[in-house]
Amino acid sequence: MKGEVRINLGSGPDGVQGWINYDWGWLPFLAKIPLLRRLLVSLGILDKSYQRDWREVVLHDLRKGIPLMANSVDWIYSSNFLEHLEKYEAEELLKECLRVLKQNGKIRLVVPDLKKIMDKYLKNGDADVFCREFYGFDKDKNMGLGKSAIRGHQWMYDFENLSRLINKVGFTKIKNSAYRKSSMKDVDILDLPIHQELGLYIEASKV
Ligand SMILES: C[S@@+](CC[C@H](N)C(=O)[O-])C[C@H]1O[C@@H](n2cnc3c(N)ncnc32)[C@H](O)[C@@H]1O
Repeated sequence: MKGEVRINLGSGPDGVQGWINYDWGWLPFLAKIPLLRRLLVSLGILDKSYQRDWREVVLHDLRKGIPLMANSVDWIYSSNFLEHLEKYEAEELLKECLRVLKQNGKIRLVVPDLKKIMDKYLKNGDADVFCREFYGFDKDKNMGLGKSAIRGHQWMYDFENLSRLINKVGFTKIKNSAYRKSSMKDVDILDLPIHQELGLYIEASKV
């Protein structure tokens, strides 16, 4: 709908047009200085997989809040970001989400579902796969300087503890959603296939 304000928290490199895509870290920062990044890649200090565009991305550390006025946002989307914050930081950010949302505004959160990760491990018994999914990056590889650009998972969620947290900060109408099942615009672009298998999809409202 025209005039809606939509924000995407921890967007990653693929910011979506029509959304304010916030991200913060060495990789989006270096993307704004392509010459320096090319040099770091050519010296082998950074892997060439870091050579991404980061289009449409606003550099902002979301641990410092959301730089928007209260009651100004219609939709908030965030995928595979909340678990990279300490739990108290996630709680502060969710309070910020509530502050900036308009009345009846909505939030859609996607995180790796701890329950699905555990169930998969109990079924397959592959501890290496489990560790990769639990820690959220290839902790077993020597990534050189690249490692300092990555913050792994700091806390993990299932439907129960995430809905408890969302409810604690004041969201209501919390519902267990599913991959690409939403009235949210652009859900087919924003919900990425790579997160489908282990994703937990939650929506809630500010009433
Ligand atoms: C695992 S990626 C998720 C990217 C994308 N949303 C997705 O679904 O694949 C987590 C993103 O959060 C960003 N991030 C980490 N800490 C942040 C912070 N304090 N403020 C804003 N973005 C942050 C990282 O740079 C990274 O792009």
